[in-house]
Amino acid sequence: MTDLDYMRRAIALAKQGLGWTNPNPLVGCVIVKNGEIVAEGYHEKIGGWHAERNAILHCKEDLFGATAYVTLEPCCHHGRTPPCSDLLIERGIKKVFIGSSDPNPLVAGQGASQLRQAGVEVVEGLLKEECDALNPIFFHYIQTKRPYVLMKYAMTADGKIATSSGESKWITGELARARVQQTRHQYSAIMVGVDTVLADNPMLNSRMPNAKQPVRIVCDSQLRTPLDCQLVQTAKEYRTVIATVSDDLQKIEQFRPLGVEVLVCKARNKRVDLQDLLQKLGEMQIDSLLLEGGSSLNFSALESGIVNRVHCYIAPKLVGGKQAKTPIGGEGIQQIDQAVKLILKSTELIGEDILLDYVVISHL
Ligand SMILES: NC(=O)c1ccc[n+]([C@@H]2O[C@H](COP(=O)([O-])OP(=O)(O)OC[C@H]3O[C@@H](n4cnc5c(N)ncnc54)[C@H](OP(=O)(O)O)[C@@H]3O)[C@@H](O)[C@H]2O)c1
Repeated sequence: MTDLDYMRRAIALAKQGLGWTNPNPLVGCVIVKNGEIVAEGYHEKIGGWHAERNAILHCKEDLFGATAYVTLEPCCHHGRTPPCSDLLIERGIKKVFIGSSDPNPLVAGQGASQLRQAGVEVVEGLLKEECDALNPIFFHYIQTKRPYVLMKYAMTADGKIATSSGESKWITGELARARVQQTRHQYSAIMVGVDTVLADNPMLNSRMPNAKQPVRIVCDSQLRTPLDCQLVQTAKEYRTVIATVSDDLQKIEQFRPLGVEVLVCKARNKRVDLQDLLQKLGEMQIDSLLLEGGSSLNFSALESGIVNRVHCYIAPKLVGGKQAKTPIGGEGIQQIDQAVKLILKSTELIGEDILLDYVVISHL
C-alpha cells in the first residue's frame, strides 16, 4: 500500500462519523509501522475521543518510529479532550501525513508546527481536496459561527416542485428519498416555510434506522402553524422551533406546553430576517441547516445570501400548470448577470432520478 492508500483508508474511516460529530469535524487516522497498519480510528461522536486518540489508545503495539495518516491537522489545544499533537509526540510517532489544515483559530497551523518542533516529520496536503470535502460544514461554522446551509428540492423534469393544487408527494422515487433521509441525519437542523407545513403537514425527521434527528425549524412570521399539525404534535419527541416575528404572547404560550420552542427574530419586510435567524441558530450550536423550501422561502434564502450549497433532484415526470410552483419563487431577478452562480460538483443517477450537487459561488 502507498501513502495515498493509507490516507484513502483514513478518509473512509472518517466518513463513519457522518452525522454524529457535529459541530465537530469528521476525522480519520491510520497508523503504519513496518509496512503494516497497526492502528486505526476516527472521531465517532461529539464529546468522544478524536481520531488520533481513538487509534492510539486502542492499539497495544509500541508505536515508536511509526507513521500516522490523519485527514485533518491534529489539534494542539485542550478542548473537550486533551491535545492529539501531545499524544502523537509522546508515543514516538516519527512522521505525520496531514490531509486538511484546520482553520479553527485555536489550531490553524499550530498543530503541525508543534509536531515539527518536537522533531516529527510533517507532510501537509496529502489528498487535500478529498480530505477538505469531508468537512465543508465544519470549515464554514468554525470561521463564521453560522450554520452551513444546503438548499434541497425535488422537481419534475419541467421544473415544478408541486402540482398546481400544491401536491408534492412524491416527486422523486424511493431511492432518492432514502438519500434525503441520510442528508437529514447529517445536518443538525431542517427548515421549511409555514406554507409547506400547511400544504404537506410534514414530519421532517430522518426515517433512516438509528438516525440522529435534526432540529425542525418552521419560518412562520405570524404563528400560523396549526397546533394539531404533525410537527407540533411530535415536538416533545423531536426538537421543534418556530422562528417568528410575532410578539403575540397568547399565541406563543399555546405552543410552549406542546414542547415547541418559539424563537422571536428581527423582521425584514415583516417576515423572519434570515440573517438574524442564522446568527441565533449558530449561537444554539447548530452548525448546519438543510433548507427544504418551499418556493418563497427558497428565494428569500438566496436573497439573504445564506445558501452555501444546492441539491437539485430531478424526477422523470412532467406535470405542467402555470400555477404549479417552481423551486425558487419570490420576486426573482431582472437581469441574468445578477443570477446566483453555482459550480457543479457532481451529478448522480439515483434510481430513476438525477441529483445535481452544486456549490454556491456568488450571491444575489
Ligand atoms: N418538491 C419539493 O422539494 C418541495 C419542498 C418544499 C415544499 N414544496 C411545496 O412547495 C409549496 C409551498 O411553497 P410556498 O412557496 O407556497 O411556501 P413556503 O416557502 O413553504 O412558505 C412561505 C411562507 O413562509 C413564511 N416566511 C417566514 N419568513 C419568511 C421569509 N423570510 N421569506 C419567505 N417566507 C417566509 C411566509 O409566511 P408568513 O409571512 O405568514 O410568515 C411565507 O408565506 C407546497 O406546495 C409544498 O408541497 C415542495
